[in-house]
Amino acid sequence: MTAVTNTSAFHRLRTNADYQAAYARSVQDPEGFWAAQAEEFTWKKKWDRVLDWNFDAPDVKWFVGGQLNITENCLDRHLAMRGDKTAILWEGNDPNEATQHITYTQLHERVCRYANVLKRNGVKKGDRVCIYMPMIPELAVAVLACARIGAIHSVVFAGFSAQSIADRVQDADAAYVLTSDGMMRGAKKGPVKAIVDEALKSCPGVKKVIVTKRTGDAVAMSDGRDVWLHDELKHVDADCPAEPMDSENVLFILYTSGSTGKPKGVVHTCGGYMVYADYTFRNVFQYEENDVYWCTADVGWVTGHSYIIYGPLLAGATSLMFEGIPTYPDAGRFWQVIDKHKVSIFYTAPTAIRSLMAQGLDFVKPYALSSLKVIGSVGEPINEEAWHWYKEHIGHNRCPIVDTWWQTETGGILISSLAGVTDEKPSYAAWPLPGVQPVLLTPDGKEIAENDVEGLLAIKFPWPSIIRTTYGDHERCRQTYFSSYKGYYFTGDGARRDAEGRYRIIGRVDDVINVSGHRFGTAEIENAINESEWVVESAVVGYPHDIKGQVIYAYVITDKRIDDADKARAEILATVTKVIGPIAKPDKIQFVSGLPKTRSGKIMRRILRKVAENELGSLGDTSTLLDPTVVDEIKAGRV
Ligand code: WTA
Repeated sequence: MTAVTNTSAFHRLRTNADYQAAYARSVQDPEGFWAAQAEEFTWKKKWDRVLDWNFDAPDVKWFVGGQLNITENCLDRHLAMRGDKTAILWEGNDPNEATQHITYTQLHERVCRYANVLKRNGVKKGDRVCIYMPMIPELAVAVLACARIGAIHSVVFAGFSAQSIADRVQDADAAYVLTSDGMMRGAKKGPVKAIVDEALKSCPGVKKVIVTKRTGDAVAMSDGRDVWLHDELKHVDADCPAEPMDSENVLFILYTSGSTGKPKGVVHTCGGYMVYADYTFRNVFQYEENDVYWCTADVGWVTGHSYIIYGPLLAGATSLMFEGIPTYPDAGRFWQVIDKHKVSIFYTAPTAIRSLMAQGLDFVKPYALSSLKVIGSVGEPINEEAWHWYKEHIGHNRCPIVDTWWQTETGGILISSLAGVTDEKPSYAAWPLPGVQPVLLTPDGKEIAENDVEGLLAIKFPWPSIIRTTYGDHERCRQTYFSSYKGYYFTGDGARRDAEGRYRIIGRVDDVINVSGHRFGTAEIENAINESEWVVESAVVGYPHDIKGQVIYAYVITDKRIDDADKARAEILATVTKVIGPIAKPDKIQFVSGLPKTRSGKIMRRILRKVAENELGSLGDTSTLLDPTVVDEIKAGRV
């Protein structure tokens, strides 16, 4: 076993020249470049080959033949040097609730104990474990406990509905669910276990449910299936050796929406994901040993996986985990927490920035924010107004902004400036990270060589945390990401490259809608709406919204005459909430008698988008429509 590694030995890029040199090397000699990064970790067995790949199958393997356990690198490796350092700094929903400072030693112990609880309940290496929990420390502990024993975690965001949980449990054939009794959210408490119970009515394959007590609310416990974590912990000790994992063993599945069908399970594996999460965390944020780092995402999304849990813990950082919401008890909560804990690196989403900006500066002014060094953005394009507000009022024109572009499928940040090291430009994610080779393509798949152009964003060489497959359906992975343009990973985003080569992400070019940084497929929402009893057919599109970035506009055909449109709308919203969750509710619903379809039956969403955006004068050619008269009706009925 290799000795504990000092963080300072890691290759950190401190100047633009460092970045240029690292980038050049990563393209000329990707294997040598990534092997040098990987050397810094604890491996149980060194790899035989750095990389095998082909994008046609696709088949990508990093650090082939190597063995490791990511939790050993997140926890054990730090114990000698950082045992007493805070690993997770937990701030509750209620500002009066005591903060928890969980040290590396304590986190290691809690993870080992929880891992032993998993084993005691029958969980084995390779088993899928669904985690549905609010932002409490046990969520991070549960994720790491799975990784400790080689079980595959599939975290489901705790805002999703029972049906969404059931879909994900069934798709991954998960026999175990980790959850809590309830959750605290702003001024309210919410159910958690009850939602899991509802979901599991259609998941007979689930053998055990392990429940953490959070709210103390009474919950039903199903005999033989459900156990309390606190009871189970009485039966285990703190000794749990880290399971040796092959580099390419699955670490986790995370479901995300695409343009077709149900959400798919994006699969990430152990070795490459570890190396990339760590490298990007240190370099993008220019992390230093005494930083207090806070990412406001939820662990239910990829940002929480890579940049609340794995990246920061791999680097031996203090990662703040926040249970609450930005507006409780008031819209100054983020800024209060930053001052309280002297946060130096702050990473949030444009939606949050825009909504807090709309609340006015009175909520910001009471706070000094003098501890901040770096501020970041993720999840959707950040418009210039929000960028400048963030820069001036939160960063006090002192902090570099990193606008980080990436995806669930990419595992880690692919395009971003490095804080204070490479330059920044409002609304530009800017520069590809070392190891990332982006290209812009024309619609027929030709690489555009020039700068100062727009195109389809694709990547032509694998980076260590690229998606490996979609769980249980490799063909879907191939079709979605690797078949549109042969030899490339296609992102689904459009981008602009400026004269110097910086990238600006324009947004999705497929049927994916990004609402407040949350991805939904149009088909997914349409299917949900169609489950409503009156609905015959529907079509949804995204349209711009000042705070949420995009919102959902639904066109709905009903089979009955709607006398009470408000009632019908309420029923549709309730159905979407039941099928997906409240975050997927359309902002607007328009009842129509028909949809603009081509003769081959394809809905012309372009027209629906234009109507939603109120650009009625520029609908383009409608002559190929089966029935062009529906367009007039749709225009007239715009809501
Ligand atoms: C969008 C979130 C512009 C993009 C990490 C991408 C962004 C999708 C940015 C992935 C950014 C993410 N600027 N757009 N900085 N970051 N996106 O899988 O459309 O939830 O394809 O991953 O969000 O969303 P996902």
